[in-house]
Amino acid sequence: MSSIQDLGLSETYGAFIDNAFQPVDGPTFAALHSGTGEQIARIARCGAAEVDAAVQAAAKAFPAWRATAPEERSALLLKLAAAVEADQQRLASIDSVDIGRRLFETGLDHQFAISQYRYFAAAAITHEGFGRPIPGGYMVARREPYGVCGQIIPWNVPAIMAAFKIAPAIAAGNTVVLKPDENASLSTLELCRHIAKIFPPGVINIVPGFGEEAGAALTAHPGVAKLAFTGSSEVGRIISRAGAERLVPVSLELGGKSPNIIFPDIEDIDAVVDNAMFATLYCNGQSCLAGTRLFVHDAVYDAVMDRLVAGMERVKVGAALAPDTVLSNLVSPEQGERVMNYIGIGKAEGARLMTGGQRIAVEGQAHGHFIAPTVFEADNHMRIAQEEIFGPVLSVIRWKDHDRMIEEANGVRYGLAAGLYTSNLRNAWDTAERLQAGSVWINHYFNLASGSPFGGFKESGIGSEYCHETLNMYTHLKAVTIQTRVAAPWFAPKA
Ligand code: NAI
Ligand code: MG
Repeated sequence: MSSIQDLGLSETYGAFIDNAFQPVDGPTFAALHSGTGEQIARIARCGAAEVDAAVQAAAKAFPAWRATAPEERSALLLKLAAAVEADQQRLASIDSVDIGRRLFETGLDHQFAISQYRYFAAAAITHEGFGRPIPGGYMVARREPYGVCGQIIPWNVPAIMAAFKIAPAIAAGNTVVLKPDENASLSTLELCRHIAKIFPPGVINIVPGFGEEAGAALTAHPGVAKLAFTGSSEVGRIISRAGAERLVPVSLELGGKSPNIIFPDIEDIDAVVDNAMFATLYCNGQSCLAGTRLFVHDAVYDAVMDRLVAGMERVKVGAALAPDTVLSNLVSPEQGERVMNYIGIGKAEGARLMTGGQRIAVEGQAHGHFIAPTVFEADNHMRIAQEEIFGPVLSVIRWKDHDRMIEEANGVRYGLAAGLYTSNLRNAWDTAERLQAGSVWINHYFNLASGSPFGGFKESGIGSEYCHETLNMYTHLKAVTIQTRVAAPWFAPKA
């Protein structure tokens, strides 16, 4: 896809309700090319009225949708997977332009999204309740969908986020109202063109807009029976409070500050350093899973640091769509400033800047904030090692004592993921056991194989996505007990 005209975008997008884009007669906001700042579309800034219409559509669609056979829901999810696969290049290009990530990455996002639709197509059929005989009859525990699910997603990996939310919810028989992020709504809105051809009206509805408007209206709507959110821990708390107010279940995927641990017995330093770079720079560093605290054992510290700095300085920083780019721009000027601010905090608190730390100008991309891959030598207690930065910034922490390192690795409020590199199996297993993280990757990073539970410990979230268990989050259990006949009077029998 060479130009924006080839992306097949509309000039304006309204809310997607009952399989149709609604006419836009209220306020709109701009979708910008994140590198050039050029306006590429305008999007309805939905509020309570659009959210209400979407929830009503989803509520109306729910009884028929929940009554469909799981096989039918599965077949439709497979159709969606095939449609996204056929349109993958265009959808990935839209994300690249919209959020500034290179095509290689947004293409991978779509591969993950497709595998999600397929995974939950299979899981829909095999998601069973359970049962057991009871005296004089049988108990059946049925898994029943909640109804309308209100879902809110962030901007960093829009295709994965939409699939993570939509696939399990509808596989389990729920209907959906989803709010995409104001920085990254386009690929989700374009996904609607496929949804409209495949699903009954009202099963999946999309309300674009701002968090405090469309998002808040969705979380407060009395017709929403289950809330699911991915984003900052700060907003996660707001969503959780909204759920508490109405006593509806809330699942949360929040931030991270994940440790990536190098032991002295690694065999191939270059390979490990390459992994550490990937863990830092994937998504231009804007990933909740990023391995942003690199714990390096004293015995290999200098060798690792030398190669790491050299590797980071080799990284080609450039426009998202330039073929040789490895690192491109952050999603927005605000995010760029946030990250630069953290770099300033790191310097001020005495962390040693080993490389990077500056904004880079890229020709023709004046709007984009490109930040050089940045490595600090830091202490675990520093703010740059404690807080989620969401940019290409790595804190390297030297360690010697295993117990102390584990304490520091766990010494953050988050617990999303962890990586470790060693050739000793027992060491790997014991360390994995002691790490407080929802995912632990041994001798690699970012491995999200279909079916691996993805969720956070501590303040990184509540619930697991991407796996069979996710369907439990989108259903409640109902016990139905059967006695084959009414027992003879026993409670207050006649004398
Ligand atoms: P955010 O948490 O504000 O945005 C995520 C989603 O929540 C968006 O769709 C937004 O519209 C919505 N939202 C915001 N306020 C809301 C409210 N009051 N009610 C309902 N929905 C609301 O994240 P933001 O501001 O874009 O990024 C700030 C920082 O958050 C990042 O620098 C990063 O540290 C973290 N973040 C973490 C993500 C993750 O996947 N863990 C994803 C995005 C951001
Ligand atoms: Mg925000």
